[in-house]
Amino acid sequence: MPTDDRSETTPTPGMGAPGHGTRDTAACGPEGATGADAPAEDPAEDSAEDPADDIEAAADAADRDYVLGTHDAEVERLGFQHAMWRHEVHHAWASAGIGEGSRVADIGAGPGFASLDLAAIVGPRGRVLAVERSPRFLRLLADEATRRGHAHIIEAIEADLMLEPIPGTGLDAAWCRWVACFVTDPALLVRRMADCLRPGGTAVFHEYVEYGAYRLLPPNPAIDDFVDAVYESWRGQGGEPDIARVLPRMLVDAGFTIRSVRPIARAARPGETLWDWPAGFARTNTRRLVELGVRDERWARAVIDAIDSAERDHATVFITPTVLEIIAVK
Ligand SMILES: C[S@@+](CC[C@H](N)C(=O)[O-])C[C@H]1O[C@@H](n2cnc3c(N)ncnc32)[C@H](O)[C@@H]1O
Repeated sequence: MPTDDRSETTPTPGMGAPGHGTRDTAACGPEGATGADAPAEDPAEDSAEDPADDIEAAADAADRDYVLGTHDAEVERLGFQHAMWRHEVHHAWASAGIGEGSRVADIGAGPGFASLDLAAIVGPRGRVLAVERSPRFLRLLADEATRRGHAHIIEAIEADLMLEPIPGTGLDAAWCRWVACFVTDPALLVRRMADCLRPGGTAVFHEYVEYGAYRLLPPNPAIDDFVDAVYESWRGQGGEPDIARVLPRMLVDAGFTIRSVRPIARAARPGETLWDWPAGFARTNTRRLVELGVRDERWARAVIDAIDSAERDHATVFITPTVLEIIAVK
């Protein structure tokens, strides 16, 4: 049975939970203005020239690059997703020897849900380098690290993994989840991970090996086409959903020894918390796919209708995309 641990890491205040945004836009980025507790906008302010607009525009430009977006709904989805995968993740970290005092890079950290857990594990003698391209995600992480008293453990570093090295050396471990599938040169990413590790350090991946496993039972053509659209959109931006198929080769070429591989396939029924992971992704991502021009509104409606009706049918099963856990040693 899937575990129900959503309550452990439901997105926290300042991490994009709707209604909890603060008005401190310098610290928290655009979501500050969308929180229900934000003061009403003054229309006169909109037309005035505001330097904050330039900062937001620059952040927006960087944030547009990530195919799934960096908006509040995506932050919330990533938090829920982390909660759904947390037990698998902690198991992987323990297998890789990550513990008190470890120095770990979180590669493509997003808003840092894993970084925050890592900080609690490595403690004040350890270090977490959260490397991420989106300034908005990094601001959310920095705020949350401060709120939890982990600011001295987590370093939130803005870097594009395709354009610059990982700013760390001699690390004990590098954690990479759902990032290799989005970068244009995953072999370069793997080499950069090798460069930041000490000899004997471990690289830990959770990446998809079979995205096409995502399906409803009984099969539903709208959902099958949703999966096709996801493949198209990620590949259209230079990514590869099934990247774990080639990571072992890339790791060996970069000088790693593969220590273990473990496929993780899951299934959920309506009413189970895990159901909301694949269902929630479709609900959020259909909107995004329309925004990106991959499909149209009518198609999005059909996908969401398919999920709504599957949810009312207790014979339905949601099969999740298959993840491959890879642990490799430098
Ligand atoms: C699906 S999210 C996963 C976030 C986090 N690893 C997790 O598991 O919750 C993918 C992340 O990779 C980041 N990313 C993608 N390409 C990147 C690049 N070239 N450099 C740095 N970060 C990148 C995105 O900005 C996004 O935060």
